[in-house]
Amino acid sequence: MKTLYIEDINDRIDEEVELFGWVYRQREHGGVLFVVLRDSTGIIQISIHKNNIDLNSFNNAQKVTIESSIRVKGKVVEDSRAPTGIEIKCSEFETINLAEEFPIQEGAGKEFLLDIRHLSLRSLKLTEIMKNKELIMRGARRYLQENNWHEVFPPIITSAACEGGTTLFSMDYYGKEAYLSQSAQLYLETAIFPLEKVYSLTPSFRAEKSRTRRHLSEYQHLELEAAWMDAKDIMKVEEELVASMCKEVSEYNGLEKFGRKKEDMILDLPLQRIKYDEALQIIQKKGIAIEWGSDLGYEEEKALTNEFEEPFFVYDYPIEAKVFYMKQNPDGKTYACADLLAPKGFGEIIGGSQREDDLQALETRMELDGVDKTPYQWYLDMRRYGSVIHSGFGLGIERLLMWICDLEHIRDACLYPRTMSRVEP
Ligand code: 4AD
Ligand code: MG
Repeated sequence: MKTLYIEDINDRIDEEVELFGWVYRQREHGGVLFVVLRDSTGIIQISIHKNNIDLNSFNNAQKVTIESSIRVKGKVVEDSRAPTGIEIKCSEFETINLAEEFPIQEGAGKEFLLDIRHLSLRSLKLTEIMKNKELIMRGARRYLQENNWHEVFPPIITSAACEGGTTLFSMDYYGKEAYLSQSAQLYLETAIFPLEKVYSLTPSFRAEKSRTRRHLSEYQHLELEAAWMDAKDIMKVEEELVASMCKEVSEYNGLEKFGRKKEDMILDLPLQRIKYDEALQIIQKKGIAIEWGSDLGYEEEKALTNEFEEPFFVYDYPIEAKVFYMKQNPDGKTYACADLLAPKGFGEIIGGSQREDDLQALETRMELDGVDKTPYQWYLDMRRYGSVIHSGFGLGIERLLMWICDLEHIRDACLYPRTMSRVEP
C-alpha cells in the first residue's frame, strides 16, 4: 500500500522515502536522468545518477516512458533547480507498468483531447479542476450541516417534467414513457413537510439543443428547498451557501493556476440585488434588443454580467419568462423569483424562487400556461394538506466551477462531459 504522497515530502528533507506514481516528464542531462513523478497531490523531480544506483534500476529509468507507473526510493533534498525546489536523489527505480507511447503530445487539439478523455484527464489542469469541484461541494456541505439542512435522495427517473417539455430526455419505462430528471425540485417540495429544510445533489438532464459554452446535457445539480422561507429569505441562503463554497476553494493552493487570487473567492455579503427591469435597461443600453417579458439568454446575460465584478441577483422576472410553480407577485406580472449570476460574462449559476403555495392560484397558472395537470396530482396535493410558504433553488455545480476556475468551456468542469455532440467515452 502506498503511504506517502508527494505533498507530504516537504517535511521529509534528508530522509529516505518511497514513492509510487506515474512518469510526467523524462529527460537526460549531462549523464543524469531526470524523471518527474506525478501523483494525485503534485509532481516531484527524481534525479538518477548512474553511480548512486544499481545497474538494473538505472536501465529501468533510462527506458521508462511517459505515464509509466513506477516505484522510486531515494533521499529528499532541497535543490533550487528542481521545478518544485525539492528533488529525490534516487537509490532504487522500479517500473511497474511500462506505458506504450502516450498519445497526447504538446499542442494536441481540443476535440482530440475530449475523444481520449480517459487519458487526458490525467493532466495537471484537470486534476486541479476536479479538486476544486470537490472543494466547492465540501464548502456546501459544511454550510448545510452547520445550518441543519437535511440531505435527501430523490429519484432520477421521473414521470412529470419540472422545467418544461423542450429539454426533456424521455425513456421507455416498462412500456410507459418516463423522463430523466431535469430538477429534483418537485420532489424536494414534498420532502419539506417531514424535514422542513432539505437539499439534494443529483445529476440533472437537459436535452439542450443550444450549443453554448455553458450548456451540458448532464450536470450536477445542488438543490435546496425550505418551508417557512419567502423569496427574500432564500436569496440570503443562496449567497451564504455560495460564499461558503467559494471560501473552501480560497483556502486551497490550486487557484493561482487559473489566474485567480484567494481574495477573489471571499465574497462580500450581501451580494448586489437588481430588479429584472433594471437588468433589462443595462442590456438594452448595450445595444441588445430585448423586450420586457423575455428570459435572459446567453447573450443577454453575457452583456449584463460583464458590468459586474461579483456575483449578483436579478429578481422579479416576468411571468412569461419563467415556470408555473413560482409564486406570483401582487403586481400580477412578475414572479417572486431570483437568479444568481456570476460576473464577467459567465451568467446564471442559480435559479430560484418562492413557490406558489395556493392550490387555486397554481391550478389557474397551469391552465393559463397550457400545462396538463394529470401527472402533477401528487404535486398539487402539497397545496391540499397543510400548505406553507416555501422557497428553493437549484445551483449548477459546473457553472459555479466554470466561473471559479475561469474556464473557457463548461465541459472542462466535468470528468466526462455530456453535450449535444458528445456521449463518448
Ligand atoms: O434555472 P434552472 O432550470 O432551475 C431549475 O431547474 C429549478 N427547478 C431549480 C430549483 O429551484 N430547485 O436550473 C438551475 C441551475 C441553473 O441556474 C444552472 O446553474 C444549472 O442549473 N443549469 C445547467 N447547468 C449546465 N448545463 C445546463 N444545460 C443547465 N441548465 C441549468
Ligand atoms: Mg434558470
